[in-house]
Amino acid sequence: MKLLVTGGAGYIGGVVAAQLVEAGHEVTVLDDLSTGHADAVPPGARFVEATITEAADVLPGTDAVFHFAAKSLVGESVERPGLYWAHNLGGTLALLDSMRAAGVGRIVFSSTAATYGEPERHPILETDPTRPTNPYGASKLAVDTALTAFARLYGLAAVSLRYFNVAGAYTAADGRTYRERHTVETHLIPNVLAVARRLRESVGVFGTDYPTPDGTCVRDYIHVADLARAHLLALDACSEGEHRIYNLGNGTGFSVTEVLSVCREVTGHEIPAVVRERRPGDPAVLVASSEKIQRDLGWKPERASIREIVADAWAALPR
Ligand code: UFG
Repeated sequence: MKLLVTGGAGYIGGVVAAQLVEAGHEVTVLDDLSTGHADAVPPGARFVEATITEAADVLPGTDAVFHFAAKSLVGESVERPGLYWAHNLGGTLALLDSMRAAGVGRIVFSSTAATYGEPERHPILETDPTRPTNPYGASKLAVDTALTAFARLYGLAAVSLRYFNVAGAYTAADGRTYRERHTVETHLIPNVLAVARRLRESVGVFGTDYPTPDGTCVRDYIHVADLARAHLLALDACSEGEHRIYNLGNGTGFSVTEVLSVCREVTGHEIPAVVRERRPGDPAVLVASSEKIQRDLGWKPERASIREIVADAWAALPR
C-alpha cells in the first residue's frame, strides 16, 4: 500500500515507518524536523520535509495516513496551550481536510493515555471517563472527538491508539537501530540511562509521597517495537465510517523506584538519584487495559518485560 507517515522522523513514527517498509509498503515520511531527525527516517522511505498543513501535495494516491506529528511535552503544553491547540488540533484538522480533498479515507492516529487524566480505577478501559489534566491531553482528545465526527459524517476509517509509557529501542531487519533521542528529554528511562552513560550526574525522582506502595508514581511501560506492531494491525482494522479507540500498554505498573533499580541492574551502574518535588500534573498511577486490542486485533506484546525494555534502550545508546 501507499502510506503517508507524518512525524516519521520522530521516535515512534520512525519505528512504525521502518516496520511498514519492512512489511513491503511504499512509505512517504512527512516531517518538519522541528523535533525529529532526518536520519531516523528509514532508508526505504521517501522523505518530504514539510509540516502537516502542507500535506496536500503528497496525499494524492495515498491509501492511508499514520499521523504522529504533534507537540508532545506536557509541561510545555501547560505554559503554551495555544501552541498545542494550533498544532495538535488545528494542524490535524487541516490534514483531515487535505485527506478528504485527495480522497484518502484511512487514518491511524497517535493518541495518548493523557486523554484520561487522573483515572478513577485501574486498569484503565477505553470506556472510562476522559478528563485530561493538561492541554496536551486535551488537544489529543479533541482530535479523537473530531475523528469520531469525521467517521460518522464523511465515512472516514479511523483508529486511535492511546499509548501509555513507550520505551526501548527497535533494531530493524537491516540492522539499523531506532531509539529515543529527544532534544528536550522529559521521559524517565532515557533520563536514568543518561546518568549510567555519564551524560548527567544524577536523575531526579519527582515525588516520593504518592499514594502508591513505595510513594513514587507507577506507570505502564510498553516496548516501542510492540507498540509499532499494533499500528500495522490497526491499518488492517480500519473500516469505513468507523472510529475505533484502543489502549496500548502491558497492563502492569512499575514505580519510578522499581524502574531505577531495573536500570541499575541492567547497566551495572550506581545511578545516583535525588528526590525532587512532584512534577505538576503527574497522576499517581497509569496502567492500561489493552484487552480490547488483544481481543479485536489479536495484538500481543512480545517484549513485555521491563528488563527487556530497559536493556534494549541501553544497548541502543551510543557508547
Ligand atoms: N520521572 C522522574 N524523573 C524524570 C522523569 C520522569 O521521576 O527525570 C517520573 C515522572 O514524574 C513520572 C514517571 O517518572 O512519574 C514517568 O514519567 P515520564 O515523563 O517518563 O512519562 P509520563 O508518564 O509523564 O508521560 C507519559 C507519556 C506522555 C503522556 C503522559 C500521560 O510519555 O506523552 O504519559 O500522563 F502525556
